[in-house]
Amino acid sequence: MTANDQDDGVVRLGGKPVVAAGESGSVETREARPRDALRPARYVLPTAIVYGSDAVGQLPSLLAEIGVEHPLVVTDRALAASSVMLRVASVLSSAGIRYGVFGGVQPDPTTGVVDEIAGILRNGGHDGVVGLGGGSPMDAAKAASAGAASGLAARDLVGQDKVPCDPLPMVAIPTTAGTGSEVTRFAVLNDESAGTKVSIASLRIMPRFALLDPSLTTGLPAHLTASTGMDALAHAVESYGSVWNNPISEGLALHAISLVGEYLRAATEHPDDLVARAGMLAASCIAELAANTTRLGLAHALAVPLGATHHVPHGVGVAMLLGAMCGYNEVVDPLRYRRMSEAMGKAEVSMAEAVKALCKDLGLNARLRDFGVDKQDYRRVVAMAMKSDNVLANPRPAGAEDLIDLLAQAQ
Ligand SMILES: NC(=O)c1ccc[n+]([C@@H]2O[C@H](COP(=O)([O-])OP(=O)(O)OC[C@H]3O[C@@H](n4cnc5c(N)ncnc54)[C@H](O)[C@@H]3O)[C@@H](O)[C@H]2O)c1
Ligand SMILES: [Fe+2]
Repeated sequence: MTANDQDDGVVRLGGKPVVAAGESGSVETREARPRDALRPARYVLPTAIVYGSDAVGQLPSLLAEIGVEHPLVVTDRALAASSVMLRVASVLSSAGIRYGVFGGVQPDPTTGVVDEIAGILRNGGHDGVVGLGGGSPMDAAKAASAGAASGLAARDLVGQDKVPCDPLPMVAIPTTAGTGSEVTRFAVLNDESAGTKVSIASLRIMPRFALLDPSLTTGLPAHLTASTGMDALAHAVESYGSVWNNPISEGLALHAISLVGEYLRAATEHPDDLVARAGMLAASCIAELAANTTRLGLAHALAVPLGATHHVPHGVGVAMLLGAMCGYNEVVDPLRYRRMSEAMGKAEVSMAEAVKALCKDLGLNARLRDFGVDKQDYRRVVAMAMKSDNVLANPRPAGAEDLIDLLAQAQ
């Protein structure tokens, strides 16, 4: 895969845009983008995945394996005061490991908090990082471990392959089943001064271990289980639809879709159902094992800027847009979308209908207006979205007017 970076830090893969929006923002969109079944691809997985009941008990031995004696646990405020942190603390203390805790990561972490954590890592003599939480703490931890090792500020690491040396070794422990950040080469940050979300993209920041323990997710409230689960579904759906997919990512994406179809309702309705929680943790991880090499689609192209402009929580934004995006795309590639609805266990309906029905069952009925998004804001959001290569990966070309239509469907 070729890569080039943009001055604005929006990460793009794959060279020239396939279509460009005209001045009116309109493009010829009735045809699918061409697919190349022989497109060269490279699939790498530097992260070892440890999965299963009470996997967190293995944390001390995993840290020893990567030579970490004095880790910093990076998490958010709510988790720092939760039974999840207590469990991690007891595992580390029982093994006699001296550790620090940074519990100040906010949702949609800023470049500023990353620099703060990198300073603590350096000044505290930490030799490794444990990223504990949802995508926000895991991304902050990934970025800070690169900042601490390189001495660079987070903003200097933004873009494609800007991480100049190996970061401090890291174990990622997801406590939501959604982002899959534990296995991705991305750290998504909020650049407050620019008012945009930016990405550090580098294979180097992929954690050494992803530790998937379903018992750490049972405290996730229903609305977060539902919305983060829809994020996982979106990664799988958009990856499977991506014109940059490959035979390996396709298999992973379809399996992730089937796991979401099987387990997301149960995990939301029955928080202590460990089998459902494990199914969703696997789904979110597997979805990103697919998407890590393919990029995503229009739902993410729009949900990411909405997180920066109106603080629409990532999974909520994606859930609002995914059904509409499937409807937009499936007319140009009905077979591919049919395979997805079959994988969801909903062969009798279109993927757009299956996604909308799932959102309804999960009680995900938020609209853009609930977050103060106004029609006048669309142009700004769409201008940011059009810079993302998630637009280029989408199977149906889309111009500014098409993205505005998708936003209007979520209004
Ligand atoms: N790096 C990547 O590849 C990637 C992919 C997708 C999204 N993201 C980013 O991830 C972030 C979103 O992550 P997220 O959706 O996981 O949300 P999050 O990490 O922001 O957490 C959301 C809320 O859930 C709470 N929470 C987390 N685990 C819990 C648990 N077990 N019990 C109770 N409460 C819990 C947190 O305290 C927080 O209040 C966004 O910044 C998004 O851009 C990154
Ligand atoms: Fe996402």
